[in-house]
Amino acid sequence: MSGEIILKFGHFDDENREYVIESPDTPLPWINYLGLEEMYGICSNTAGGYSFYKDARLRRITRYRYNNAPFDIGGRYLYLRDNDSGAFWSPSWQPVKTDLDSYECRHGLSYTTISSKYRGISSEMTYFIPLGETVEIWKTVIGNQTTKEVNLSLFSSVEFCLWDAQDDATNFQRNFSTGQVEVEDGVIYHKTEYRERRNHFAYFACSMPLAGFDTQRDEFLGKYRGFDKPLVVESGQSRNSIANGWAPHGSHHVLLNLKPGESKEVIFALGYFENDEQEKFDPPGSQIINKSHVRPVIDKWLNKDQVDLGFRQLKDYWNELLSVLQVQTPDADTNRMVNIWNAYQCMVTFNMSRSTSFYESGIGRGMGFRDSNQDLFGFVHMIPEKARQRIIDIASTQLETGGAYHQYQPLTKRGNNDIGSGFNDDPLWLILGVASYIKESGDLAILDALVPYDNKEGSEVPLYEHLVRSLNYTLERLGPHDLPLIGRADWNDCLNLNCFSTTPGEPFQTTENQSGGVAESVMIAGQFVLAAEELSAMAALRGNDAEESEFMKRAEQMTAAILEHGWDGKWFKRAYDFYSNPIGSSANSEGQIFIESQGMCIMAGVGIKSGQASIALESVNERLATEHGIVLQQPAYTRYYPELGEISSYPPGYKENAGIFCHTNPWIMISEAMCSNGDRAFDYYKRINPSKREAISEVHKCEPYVYSQMIAGKDAPTHGEAKNSWLSGTAALNFTAISQWILGIRPTYEGLIIDPVIPSSWTGFQATRKFRGTTYNITVEKEAGVSGRVTELIVDSVPVSGNIIPVGRPGNTVTVIAKIV
Ligand code: BGC
Ligand code: NOJ
Repeated sequence: MSGEIILKFGHFDDENREYVIESPDTPLPWINYLGLEEMYGICSNTAGGYSFYKDARLRRITRYRYNNAPFDIGGRYLYLRDNDSGAFWSPSWQPVKTDLDSYECRHGLSYTTISSKYRGISSEMTYFIPLGETVEIWKTVIGNQTTKEVNLSLFSSVEFCLWDAQDDATNFQRNFSTGQVEVEDGVIYHKTEYRERRNHFAYFACSMPLAGFDTQRDEFLGKYRGFDKPLVVESGQSRNSIANGWAPHGSHHVLLNLKPGESKEVIFALGYFENDEQEKFDPPGSQIINKSHVRPVIDKWLNKDQVDLGFRQLKDYWNELLSVLQVQTPDADTNRMVNIWNAYQCMVTFNMSRSTSFYESGIGRGMGFRDSNQDLFGFVHMIPEKARQRIIDIASTQLETGGAYHQYQPLTKRGNNDIGSGFNDDPLWLILGVASYIKESGDLAILDALVPYDNKEGSEVPLYEHLVRSLNYTLERLGPHDLPLIGRADWNDCLNLNCFSTTPGEPFQTTENQSGGVAESVMIAGQFVLAAEELSAMAALRGNDAEESEFMKRAEQMTAAILEHGWDGKWFKRAYDFYSNPIGSSANSEGQIFIESQGMCIMAGVGIKSGQASIALESVNERLATEHGIVLQQPAYTRYYPELGEISSYPPGYKENAGIFCHTNPWIMISEAMCSNGDRAFDYYKRINPSKREAISEVHKCEPYVYSQMIAGKDAPTHGEAKNSWLSGTAALNFTAISQWILGIRPTYEGLIIDPVIPSSWTGFQATRKFRGTTYNITVEKEAGVSGRVTELIVDSVPVSGNIIPVGRPGNTVTVIAKIV
């Protein structure tokens, strides 16, 4: 096999909405997310990953080892042992890594099924978290496809995390002495710190009678052994160990005697449970967990019919969510991403923000203020009510100055002091997040919802006031060119123009800034125009004419400042540094042109009428576009510039230093669509479309079903290689670009706009969109070779002027025909 180039590692099963991985040794672990509400899990294609309740840092249920080799060790593992021959293997390939006779992993929507065969024994595990529950199910079916009776042992294995993942990974002098478990009726309870300040515990249950169990990891593994060769599995004997300190673990041992052709189902249930403070112990006064409330939950989920029902409900739920937008275009990769995977990734980014993946440890970063606001763009159409709650949560962390904590912790929903504030784009994202919610839902009343500052009781004001403060925050921080001061950074976390760090290891984002500088951001200026126009529209809808025109005037002033001080001749400048020297200008020797200011200014409409937008987009095409996507800037920084910050700390072609930072590519797609360039918008869309890139999986390396944050740029030796899959604003922004701007089905305050800007070769497409309770069946018609905007709109056989469909009656189905002639 050596020398063979494997370009693909699986295929899409569109009908079942699954990605099917056909070989376990993918270039990197390809993961999926379990859970949609309170309990979550990350599950790789070899069953690696971990589970947590709400917050991957503060309520980690199972342990994961970071930066490991192999990359992916620690997971929800099963082992099978043939008790006649003594051979053992992992049906998910890892951790034993036996050369299985067959293997398949199907990552579906909030579930993963791994099936394999070895020496005539088939296994199939389906992992999922039922809706409304805090329990992870492993539905396991083991079959005998040989002609002889077999005697098997099935062992389960999870390593419990002592709740705080940060502490668990570092504080061994304490943690090796605190671990505690109970075992009752074959259920393993992990209760470290339950004696003292925790009311929660984890449990791990099995539907079959046990031949034994283990709860002390090192008894299970044996001395000097890893998960690839546990002593208990090798010997076929559980040790019935009880963890006192060290590493609490959960392992069941089930004996399976299977006749030829026979199969058996075994259910494992890994759960999280909280008791009331007053009812922690049974008997009261003892130190034993009161199990009276959890027992019914365990019994329920060890039942086969219940598990099947829970799984069906999960599938139905996803069918319903995805039915909000379904498209049929001439391009299969587009259909697959819009209809399934991009929407799915938007749900995951909404739930996780940037906290937990195989690249985000779950420890360092909670919910990002700017990130979570942007995540709304791709999520709000699926569950507007959840988006509403999220907006209230985010706005509740806003500071009275109008500024924002950069991050907040999902469990406590409190702003994170370690990271602090001063990222001057943050507050403006709140306006854009709220705008996307109101456009989708029509719920203007959210602007009257009372929301505190910094979660302080008594500080509540209407949400609308928060938005006004966001705008004023920028206006109160303008620099010498009347452009917004950048603060610690803007969208580009690594453009730290006030930091001047020369000490190794110092965090660029939180190190004390040098004072007295005047670093300004053209990106924030563009974003301000966009936000001011949105707030002006909201003011108008509230009948507040004075503020409507006030905010419009501010947008115009900022536009003028951009055109005067932010235009470089062929593109928009990026910023001015601490000393007021331009960045992203032909006057620079490196970093002459940046993507962000082009995208943000044009999305805000700056330069469209006057022609600068088209010139800037030409420059992007000439200087930044590559076959793998559009790089962030050019030329890449080849050395470290203390006055620029983290951006120049990356080697050329990676991350913010001229990597293809996928999040900003859709800004250019949207800009191209706004300038009526459907061919180019779609071409850029295709270049980073993961499904399209599946064919070069060996180069791309990350999952072909979701976007990655970054693809190495043309200055990198590994050009085309992706990193940081899953948690990126790329998901929401690409969803917005393709669905709202290229396909042009765009919610506005007044109703749904139909404004496709599609490739000239297409002859149209079809879509179903549910919007404010009405279902729209939309057909866009055009001849091949024609490009342009909609010229005729027919709604239920009646021609309508303009391109907005009047809001329909809830429950109705409306037929829409849009013609581009
Ligand atoms: C990374 C950025 C990221 C930031 C988050 C930086 O080190 O390069 O991509 O946004 O950290 O704080
Ligand atoms: C990732 C961060 O999560 C996001 O907030 C930021 O805009 C980009 N990196 C660019 O630095």
